[in-house]
Amino acid sequence: MPLTVPVLPVGIDPAWLPPEAFRPLGSRRTLVQGAGPLVDTVHGEVAYACGQFGGEVVRNAADDAYDLVLRLARQTAADAGVLGSIGDLGDEGFAYERADETATVTAVGQRGLLYGLFHVVRLGEDAFRGARAREVHRPASALRMLDHWDNVAVHPVMGQVERGYAGGSLFWRDGGARGEWDRVRAYGRLLAACGVNAVSVNNVNVHETEAHLLTDRIDQVARIAGALRPYGIRTHLSVTFAAPVVLGGLSTADPFEGAVREWWAEAVRGVYSAIPDFGGFVVKADSEGQPGPFTYGRSHADGANLLAAALEPYGGTVHWRAFVYDHRQDWRDRTTDRARAAYDHFAPLDGEFADNAVLQVKHGPLDFQVREPVSPVLGAMPRTRLAVELQATQEYTGQQRHVCWLGPMWSEVLRFGPHGDGGASVGESVRGLVAVSNVGDDPFWTGHPLAQANLYTFGRLAWQPGRDPHGVLDEWIGLTFPSAPERLVGGLHAVLDGSWRTYEKYTAPLGVGFMVQPGHHYGPSVDGYEYSPWGTYHFADRDGIGVDRSAATGTGYAAQYGKPWAEVYESAATCPDELLLFFHHVPYGHVLADGRTVIQHIYDSHFEGVEEAEEARRVWAGLADLVDPAWHARVAERYEEQVRSAREWRDQINSYFLRKSGVPDARGRTIY
Ligand code: GCU
Repeated sequence: MPLTVPVLPVGIDPAWLPPEAFRPLGSRRTLVQGAGPLVDTVHGEVAYACGQFGGEVVRNAADDAYDLVLRLARQTAADAGVLGSIGDLGDEGFAYERADETATVTAVGQRGLLYGLFHVVRLGEDAFRGARAREVHRPASALRMLDHWDNVAVHPVMGQVERGYAGGSLFWRDGGARGEWDRVRAYGRLLAACGVNAVSVNNVNVHETEAHLLTDRIDQVARIAGALRPYGIRTHLSVTFAAPVVLGGLSTADPFEGAVREWWAEAVRGVYSAIPDFGGFVVKADSEGQPGPFTYGRSHADGANLLAAALEPYGGTVHWRAFVYDHRQDWRDRTTDRARAAYDHFAPLDGEFADNAVLQVKHGPLDFQVREPVSPVLGAMPRTRLAVELQATQEYTGQQRHVCWLGPMWSEVLRFGPHGDGGASVGESVRGLVAVSNVGDDPFWTGHPLAQANLYTFGRLAWQPGRDPHGVLDEWIGLTFPSAPERLVGGLHAVLDGSWRTYEKYTAPLGVGFMVQPGHHYGPSVDGYEYSPWGTYHFADRDGIGVDRSAATGTGYAAQYGKPWAEVYESAATCPDELLLFFHHVPYGHVLADGRTVIQHIYDSHFEGVEEAEEARRVWAGLADLVDPAWHARVAERYEEQVRSAREWRDQINSYFLRKSGVPDARGRTIY
């Protein structure tokens, strides 16, 4: 009987770790060497697998012949030689090699050993074949975090999970901790297998009940932290900037007031006595109605540094979000441009943030649209620790009812060079990656089973931002469908690879942005936000469409970029077509690089997008004999909705623009 070790859970049974979460490997004897709670986790993983499927694991034994050695190297004379030749592994890195029939993982930090175990799992049988020269793996950055927008109490509008499409919260239910610690632990395991090491457990919009997590409800957070800790996940909390007023009864939350500083210092002391390895705070301030330093005439650096100072003695970090803009704008006022806001607020503060403050910047200037340029903030603050915020939860990309694998989009952001080809890419220059979580209590974790690929891809890109996302997808397929025949692998690639572009085609191509139904953001409503205060307009009229964000004649947003991008985006002639309507207002007859007019492109892409969604549904139907029936049925059911919704988008958008422009479809297809 071969030894087995775990792979990603692909579904949940009452024990949270179904047999499919484990995979036989070709090893029989494993040695786990080292001491500490995460080494215990590693040992427990292997021991559990041996108990299920056979094999043997020993702990801290003398040298002998083993198939797999998982070793926490100490700085002893015996290890010094090995470590010297490996180089700095840090807390999370590991080395893997195979010689003399033994595969060896060496780590210095306990997290590194855990990631090394999951590396062996990913390699599968290959981990035990032939000799393999030493490979050294280290994450590109130490911050790889998921932000849950989970509410403790069900919010009357936003529900238990704001923008959640995978059922209820894993952590909270009906106003209190949910208390299913085994499930939380299984979640930690899933995240560690992806490479994620931090979680924020509540919504950035901090309502009243949730504000209390910081003080009198911290014990509930401590329980969650306790369940995640064995997998190396550090717990974070979203807090309200007004906490000294709301919780402390002070008359002010002004960062320059001594009493306010003392209040935060005391609150943080309480947090760390409950959770000694607490990660820090996430703060949405002066944004969409959340309180912030502007109330007191202070800057965002003043606000962030207040919390950073309180966290500093304990090694905590404040994650300050850059999503700050005027959400009460007058749509008649063309001089205000929401896209400019983050840069205008934050770029002048470069260098003013404390060392333990991270500025968390959404990847685009607006709000997680299917296509946006990369935020200019990411190239404008070299003296500030920046993190990129991505949205795994598919608020604007099909709400986990549509297949939309976001790997290629995220990879484009991470490979973007704010200063052109010669300079560092976003992925190379930021301090970390954060994603808004797409996970809930759904049996498939993510509502749409194929949305698991987004979670996994996020974790792997956070570990190595320069990676080809298609390689990551291969990995996810291999782990989720072990021994899948070629037809299944091909089918999964066929429905996932191009799904982001398909979604873009039938919704909002050419970078036009917001055309969703207001509030819940699902389905088309071309003018849903056009006459609203939210600052997300497309300005379509009978002659043309798009927002002039040039410096010469528009809002000046294009000038927030460095070279070469400021020039590239400034002119409609050089701006990439996929972003044309984001940067320029053009006539419907404007000719794109491929020779088609804008109006014809709108028609064509909507027809094409629907055809691609229909084709994906057909491909999926043909995989029924190869996929677990429950999985297959869930995805098939969602494809029905995706195709229905895609047709709705096509028909509304095409009819709208035919009526506005009066230009018929050159190919004479049905437009209503
Ligand atoms: C979007 C989303 C909100 C969320 C906000 C944020 O606007 O619709 O639900 O609160 O982003 O990122 O803070």
